[in-house]
Amino acid sequence: MAQINDNYLKLKAGYLFPEIGRRVAAFAKENPGAKIIRMGIGDVTEPLPPAVTEAMHKAVDEMANRATFRGYGPEQGYDFLREAIAAHDFRARGCDIAADEIFVSDGSKCDTGNILDIFGAENTIAVTDPVYPVYVDTNVMAGHTGDANEKGEYAKLVYIRTTAENNFTAEVPDRKVDVVYLCSPNNPTGTAMSKELLTKWVHYARQNHAIIFFDAAYESYISDPSIPHSIYEIPGAKEVAIEFRSFSKLAGFTGTRCAFTVVPKNLKGRAPNGEEVEIYKLWNRRHTTKFNGVSYITQRGAEAVYSTAGQKQVRDLVSFYMANAKIIRESLTQMGLKVFGGINAPYVWLATPGRMTSWQFFDHLLKETNVVGTPGSGFGAAGEGYFRISAFNSRENVNEAMGRLREKIKV
Ligand code: MLT
Repeated sequence: MAQINDNYLKLKAGYLFPEIGRRVAAFAKENPGAKIIRMGIGDVTEPLPPAVTEAMHKAVDEMANRATFRGYGPEQGYDFLREAIAAHDFRARGCDIAADEIFVSDGSKCDTGNILDIFGAENTIAVTDPVYPVYVDTNVMAGHTGDANEKGEYAKLVYIRTTAENNFTAEVPDRKVDVVYLCSPNNPTGTAMSKELLTKWVHYARQNHAIIFFDAAYESYISDPSIPHSIYEIPGAKEVAIEFRSFSKLAGFTGTRCAFTVVPKNLKGRAPNGEEVEIYKLWNRRHTTKFNGVSYITQRGAEAVYSTAGQKQVRDLVSFYMANAKIIRESLTQMGLKVFGGINAPYVWLATPGRMTSWQFFDHLLKETNVVGTPGSGFGAAGEGYFRISAFNSRENVNEAMGRLREKIKV
């Protein structure tokens, strides 16, 4: 019988969102009349912007014609998209990122997991707690951790607690780590890192020869002009950081699939013999071996995000979801709940009322209001006693859900 990768046996529960889906499906089966409003998984609800679909229709026509048909594209992404990304997302913000340092992919979730292929098992890895669970689970799968304790914390991982007391900001640790995941604006807490804090992290990484995995999937939701959109806005970050970006939340691509990872050429790691190795070369090797690129049609759609019309349309899309976030924040605050996030991110993070655990509040909310959210404990031990509500929904559903909460939830 074939032997399995027994690191998978260390994983605690099922992945968070399928587990929520399972509980909601069971509830719906028992309560067929319930009008369930899903504010759990952060999945977009509004259609793709017209500039994107127009570009995709045009690309479909090209694919239907022998003269303009395309087969395999470059694994790293077409130049037209890599150039547009470098110009608009980086050079326009004063970040010196070249088009060939951008690797187009089918998602940041995949990339934050796949990047571990090129890092050794001996690294000390730090994550925040609460945290996007993919960072932890993919390290478990890769054999970078020991077993989990009863709270679900894995041996060998370094957890950086973010709490209500520090407004859910990740402070630099007082010990050396080799790799650290930072997510800003943050999933799940909805808070964003200031320039000052990110600068501290870049200094920490430079001093400790650490690498920062910077997940900026929600950067387009930043409303405060003082908050950095890219880690490369911080001087010296190119030598210590990899950045993950996505079109999912920016332009409604959760089902369409397009993202990118920035690996600067002067970012170095160390081989066991002490020699410095360019991370860029290893990632390029991995990407070209294990990935065949995002479809031409999708990349043309992503490119259209950077057109004048596309830029206006995605700004409108983001404003729409952020107006939802404002309604959620204000409604919950008026109810007397303690609320975080929702200003520079599409997630509102609240302390559960009446000392309920996160899953108790999940069940209570589902039963009393038929509204689905995400239990904070699903994001780590420090998320216990908290709950996440996503602003990705129709206005009608957001208003309806908040009305039900006001009526049925006692604080
Ligand atoms: C979430 O709800 O946390 C996100 O949808 C997860 C993701 O983007 O993979």
